[in-house]
Amino acid sequence: MKQRIQDMDVKGKRVLLRCDFNVPIEKGRILDDSKIVESLETIEYLMKNGAKIIILSHFGKVKKEEDKKKNTLEPVAKHLQSLVTSRVLFSKQTRNNQLPDLIEKMNPGDILVLENTRYEDVPNKLESGNDEELAKYWASLADIFCLDAFGSSHREHASTFGVANYLPNCIGFLVQKEVTNLDKYVLNAKKPFTIVMGGAKVEDKVALIEALLPICDHLLLTGGIANSCLYTLGYMVGKSIRTDDEKILENIKRLLIKYQDKIMLPLDVIVGKEFDENYIEHVKVDKVLANQLILDIGMDTVREYEKIINASATIFVNGTAGKYEDKRFATGTRELLDVIANSKTIKVVGGGDGVGAVKHFHYEDKFTYLSTGGGATLEYIVNGGLPAINIIQDK
Ligand code: 3PG
Repeated sequence: MKQRIQDMDVKGKRVLLRCDFNVPIEKGRILDDSKIVESLETIEYLMKNGAKIIILSHFGKVKKEEDKKKNTLEPVAKHLQSLVTSRVLFSKQTRNNQLPDLIEKMNPGDILVLENTRYEDVPNKLESGNDEELAKYWASLADIFCLDAFGSSHREHASTFGVANYLPNCIGFLVQKEVTNLDKYVLNAKKPFTIVMGGAKVEDKVALIEALLPICDHLLLTGGIANSCLYTLGYMVGKSIRTDDEKILENIKRLLIKYQDKIMLPLDVIVGKEFDENYIEHVKVDKVLANQLILDIGMDTVREYEKIINASATIFVNGTAGKYEDKRFATGTRELLDVIANSKTIKVVGGGDGVGAVKHFHYEDKFTYLSTGGGATLEYIVNGGLPAINIIQDK
């Protein structure tokens, strides 16, 4: 068993807390704050027990200088301030000479949020490359490291993994809760086990799909990953989200052939057009035009997927079927979630967007468990563990 936050003496200590505050955001508005709210148990425990709390989190992908502005963690720090009674300070830098002094002057219970850890990825990928000096620097700011970023625990980054090498460490309440529930519901899932996968992150998911296919009985695809499958099968997907990485497309094709009995793809879709807010059409997948983009699944697809869902014992949902934030493209996501919510299955949803959609359509009470992890949860299902959790010392 891993060392837990409640096993540590945190009073008067500086605790470096890795959270996953990578929440869905649109035009500066947080669409779903579940991940922040789920972190509160650990944060409030540290506040109550008189620790100085230094929070690290990534936010989106920062690959070039221009990505920084839209991926600042500042709105998240502001939101956190509205949820806690402690003072929340925000550092516009991920490191600077004044930080030790600032931390020294903090009162017990105060919170300091450092800027997006992935700012360190420009230009040298120091965060995602798990740079030793960076990990040592963050560790030097604290006495204890607490991992509570379940959703990022599949990443061997400086802030999730590297820092654990240099400090006494433990897992927070969120990681404990995730591990307990995922072990119970999806690690050795009751069969038939069906995975419903959608969303926009394609590249990340292909390797995971390959590992998941031998474990699950059915894989129902929607979103960017389905578009990539349709494309590799020769369908026109126009301007839809898909991967254009030739190697990944080849891999997808191989999986589609090898696992043709398990993988299902949309039959019909709802398409829109770039720069035309009023355009919307329902078409069969072989009728998508070059200037259209797939933004939702159609009801024929929902009805086909429903047959598999109702014959399953466990369903795991990751990602959404459509751009549900836009009412015109919300029906497929809503109807598919409705089918899942009303099925007599164990149902678990994982990841910011999937959980956001479940809450948006008010199905949260019908789901067995809502996990904060997307890729992390999928990887946990495959491996039964995650690098950033594995490295934490045993009790
Ligand atoms: C997530 O949203 O799944 C986690 O925050 C991890 O984000 P990442 O895929 O950008 O590492």
